[in-house]
Amino acid sequence: MLWPDGERAVGQVAARLGGVSAIAGAVEILVDRLYDNATANRNAAVAAFHAERGHAGFKFLVTAWSIEQTGGPKCYPGRDMTAAHERLHVTEDDFDTVAPDIAATLSYVGVPAAEHQEFTDIIESYRTMVVETGTAVTVAAASAPVRA
Ligand code: HEM
Repeated sequence: MLWPDGERAVGQVAARLGGVSAIAGAVEILVDRLYDNATANRNAAVAAFHAERGHAGFKFLVTAWSIEQTGGPKCYPGRDMTAAHERLHVTEDDFDTVAPDIAATLSYVGVPAAEHQEFTDIIESYRTMVVETGTAVTVAAASAPVRA
């Protein structure tokens, strides 16, 4: 691994997203949006975190997570997605509030369509780990095919 020269160390998708600097720049914008997202802040645990904790550490964690998830070097030191979110009681609605902010940020920084879709697919693949089991089960049950 060529770390700390992150621009050379990034993996394929991370490189196509623009490398470490571009990912960090996108997260800078995204996290500021999320902290100000009034709908996301309807979740009291999320609002409390936003009120009590600064942006810098969270930006670092989300940047490292994104680098690692897109094929870059193993550099994420945070909790897994289930552990990180379980005390927040994130609902399907909460998740659907955050997802458009992610998409809007990718568009704003000019991520091309293919990479935009790949990153969106990665985010979506974590939905069941982030959303509280109760609400995920409810939605899954509601959309399950009816058997005779
Ligand atoms: C796939 C989607 C998501 C990803 C990739 C993600 C990513 C992360 C990461 C990397 C952390 C840091 C973990 C740590 O501290 O060790 C975190 C924590 C957190 N996330 Fe998410 N997140 C997602 C969805 C959401 C949603 C939908 C919400 C709320 C609406 C949310 C709110 C939070 C909050 C408030 C924390 C801080 C928890 C704490 O330290 O007490 N996240 N997330």
